Amino acid sequence: MDVKRAKITAVGHYLPEHRLTNHDLEKMVDTNDEWIRTRTGIEERRILKDKDKATAFMSAEAAKEALESKGVSPEEIDLIIVGTVTPDYLFPSTACLVQEKIGATNAFAFDLSAACSGFLYALSTGAMYIESGRAKKVLIIGADKMSSILDFTDRSTCILFGDGAGAVLLEESEDETGIIDYIHHSEGDTNCSLYQPAGGSLNPASKETVENMEHFVRQDGRSVFKKATMGMADVSLEIMEKNKLDPEDVAWLVPHQANLRIIDATARRMGLSNEKVMININKYGNTTAGTIPLCLYDWKEQLNYGENIILAAFGGGFTWGATYLKWGIK
Ligand code: UT7
Repeated sequence: MDVKRAKITAVGHYLPEHRLTNHDLEKMVDTNDEWIRTRTGIEERRILKDKDKATAFMSAEAAKEALESKGVSPEEIDLIIVGTVTPDYLFPSTACLVQEKIGATNAFAFDLSAACSGFLYALSTGAMYIESGRAKKVLIIGADKMSSILDFTDRSTCILFGDGAGAVLLEESEDETGIIDYIHHSEGDTNCSLYQPAGGSLNPASKETVENMEHFVRQDGRSVFKKATMGMADVSLEIMEKNKLDPEDVAWLVPHQANLRIIDATARRMGLSNEKVMININKYGNTTAGTIPLCLYDWKEQLNYGENIILAAFGGGFTWGATYLKWGIK
């Protein structure tokens, strides 16, 4: 029996216009540009200012751009998956809102919660629908409006994140290009090293949760840093070894953009030189599920048909993983 393979056939993105620079943040909290740049690699991030717009809006814009670039009409889409931790509502899902916004009347849609690994988890889930023949055209979106859950008085978190969305179209591959392998890992973070304390069913919104600033991201940066560095480097090497890839076989590493030091450690472990690593954390900060598709969008003109690419992420949950694909857009 022929095994079907999914491939990325189009890429789209959305970034809000407003730029929040490190110098802007210096006026808001006790921080400085030098600390942020040397500890994280971030220079500025985008913030979605419009009160009436959120993750579904950014996702829909990214999806529309991907579809238009390939000349695919929204009615042809079978499935939409949105990886996000900042859905417009707890329910309905952001993916359902996107389905309505873009007019994908024949698609079913759901969100997937895997924090910074959301795009990679969604990508492999979507790929399996194509591989099984259950879907022909799948939209995978990674999008987060992190500014909606940031405490802009907490310097340890508010400097790290930004808003943005990226989308890819998955279709069946007709050749050897496409998504070849994926590895995912999870480890329940019972110490709550990276989480949003309130707003879920354990600590529903109350006067107290609002007063205690519990609806915002909290992170024990140092312990997450250690786990992320190890997790992302290990899984990237794991997927190379599993697929018998030497460093010279890999054209690009597309890493989640949480910290330049984590990215550098991953590339070093894989034996890759800096020119093979996509880095845009300086411009957008950590957009959570948005980082990897935003990299693919920024680099799409430089990607060559048939090149081996490794995508890698680590995030809250904990969740982490890597995907190996051969670029399939000519
Ligand atoms: O994307 C999902 C997964 N998340 C990650 O991968 C993030 C992982 N963690 C990190 O990237 C890093 O831990 C951070 C960038 C968050 C922090 O960097 P760090 O090198 O681990 O700094 P630290 O938390 O150990 O703090 C060092 C010092 C502290 O001061 P003392 O205790 O040494 O006096 C902090 O209070 O830096 C201080 N600090 C700051 N100073 C200026 C913390 N935040 C700031 C700030 N500006 N914004």
